[in-house]
Amino acid sequence: MNGDPLLEVRDVYAGYLDFDILRGTNLVVHPGEIVCVIGPNGAGKSTVFRAVYGLLKVRKGQVLFNGEEITNLTPQQVLRSGIAIVPQLRSVFPQMTVYENLEMGMFVESNKARVRERIGVVLDLFPRLAERTTQQVHTMSGGEQRMLEIGRALLLEPKLLMMDEPSAGLAPSITRQIFDHVRRLNDEIGLTILMIEQNARQGLETSDRGYVLELGQNSFEGTGQELIENPEVRRAFLGGR
Ligand SMILES: Nc1ncnc2c1ncn2[C@@H]1O[C@H](COP(=O)(O)OP(=O)(O)OP(=O)(O)O)[C@@H](O)[C@H]1O
Ligand SMILES: [Mg+2]
Repeated sequence: MNGDPLLEVRDVYAGYLDFDILRGTNLVVHPGEIVCVIGPNGAGKSTVFRAVYGLLKVRKGQVLFNGEEITNLTPQQVLRSGIAIVPQLRSVFPQMTVYENLEMGMFVESNKARVRERIGVVLDLFPRLAERTTQQVHTMSGGEQRMLEIGRALLLEPKLLMMDEPSAGLAPSITRQIFDHVRRLNDEIGLTILMIEQNARQGLETSDRGYVLELGQNSFEGTGQELIENPEVRRAFLGGR
């Protein structure tokens, strides 16, 4: 692979109360890659994200970003180090406009000119949002709300974007659009992306590499194509023979 990893999750143990959900989870994302994590419900996929993001204590193992240890930093510190997250559940403010939501995404920035500049860059990336800056978010479609979440995550110019099930709850045609955006962001601004997908086939097709997570451990890894062609992965996760 091309050089040092951007993100490395190394033999991580983490969980809830005193029960470990993750038991030796490993994951690597190289600069410029799109990486997809698939696996059954309850496997611990979102738990990996929480552990990386400082929302859950890592009891054993390490998280490295850009060559530096970020294990058990606070979410604010992780954000500042260059990782943005789009969580599994909707995180927009429904009663606010598109523009106000974007401003909220930059509340840590006090330089108003910088805020306007970054919002401008994001609106250029998502023309659908640019047409709707004054629209209240609860009146927008699910796909548009998802785009807003992704756009808002890009405001602080992250090096890595982590998305937990970007296609969840979206119709197939909208899902395709979201994956097109993922590819386009990777192509056009060189964004490195780690995503979890329950839509396994499309998620893997969109990605350079993938991981299958089961019971808090990696069970398979490979290029997107290798996983799609793996008979066991097909049988268990892709509805294939
Ligand atoms: N706050 C919590 N307290 C206790 N247990 C939790 C908590 N959050 C998650 N769990 C448990 O941890 C396990 C892994 O959950 P996680 O959300 O990581 O799964 P997932 O792979 O993301 O699943 P899904 O595909 O349904 O989103 C599940 O058994 C879940 O019930
Ligand atoms: Mg989840």
